Amino acid sequence: MSPAAPVLEATGLRVAYGGNTALDLEALSLRPGEVLGVVGANGAGKSTLVNAIAGWSRGAPRVSGAVRLDGRDVSTLPPHQRARAGLLLVPEGKLVFGQMSVDENLTMPARIEASPGRHIYDREEVFGLFPRLRERRGHLGSQLSGGERQMLGIGRALMLGPRVLMLDEPSIGLAPRLVSAVLSTMRTLASSGLAILLVEQNVRAAIEVVDRLVLLERGRVVVEGPAAEMRDDPRIAEAYLGGGAD
Ligand SMILES: Nc1ncnc2c1ncn2[C@@H]1O[C@H](COP(=O)(O)OP(=O)(O)OP(=O)(O)O)[C@@H](O)[C@H]1O
Ligand SMILES: [Mg+2]
Repeated sequence: MSPAAPVLEATGLRVAYGGNTALDLEALSLRPGEVLGVVGANGAGKSTLVNAIAGWSRGAPRVSGAVRLDGRDVSTLPPHQRARAGLLLVPEGKLVFGQMSVDENLTMPARIEASPGRHIYDREEVFGLFPRLRERRGHLGSQLSGGERQMLGIGRALMLGPRVLMLDEPSIGLAPRLVSAVLSTMRTLASSGLAILLVEQNVRAAIEVVDRLVLLERGRVVVEGPAAEMRDDPRIAEAYLGGGAD
């Protein structure tokens, strides 16, 4: 059986801030139902990567290269049009409106047209995925814990019918129990065909749920491969998995 065509492809993606290259990536692709982990130290270029794919910019980066969604070049589209096309980024906590309740945050954010391979979640389905949100449905976004806010951000993204869901460090600041809960939700979502790009500093937790892992250093891919092999890779083990400090 030949593998499904990639849903997301980035080629020759380069991002520079002034004279500094923050990202220089030859190629990255993601298939439906696949969870790809992107790991690396602070400043490695992980956020730069997902922001460039989503079309977001912090500051004034120079971005070049191509981003294709289902074979269509979206690299000239502004972020909201990429989102409409199903390329969704959940940045750390930011997809949540603080002055709106959980329920209001989960009111259909925009009218999205259903199409094959795009499931548009409704509020009940989001509550099914994250029962905690149902319990907190009357609370304001600003009153939620970091973990609850993360769940709400993911829920909002799911209501936009993602083809590709990108998450920038969803586990940051979460209690260990919640980290595994949020990350294992990624497996559930992927099993329905969603492609997921997971940026994580918590390599130990990420490696348990991703299919493939990419290690970035100074904006470049140092090593990539199936999660099982990456666990034994000395560069990953040395940096993150060794029995050392943590
Ligand atoms: N707006 C900006 N202006 C100038 N340089 C920037 C800007 N945003 C990021 N950079 C630089 O680009 C590089 C990559 O940053 P990026 O935020 O992508 O790292 P990261 O891997 O997400 O790190 P972290 O794990 O800390 O979130 C860093 O050297 C950073 O200082
Ligand atoms: Mg970052």
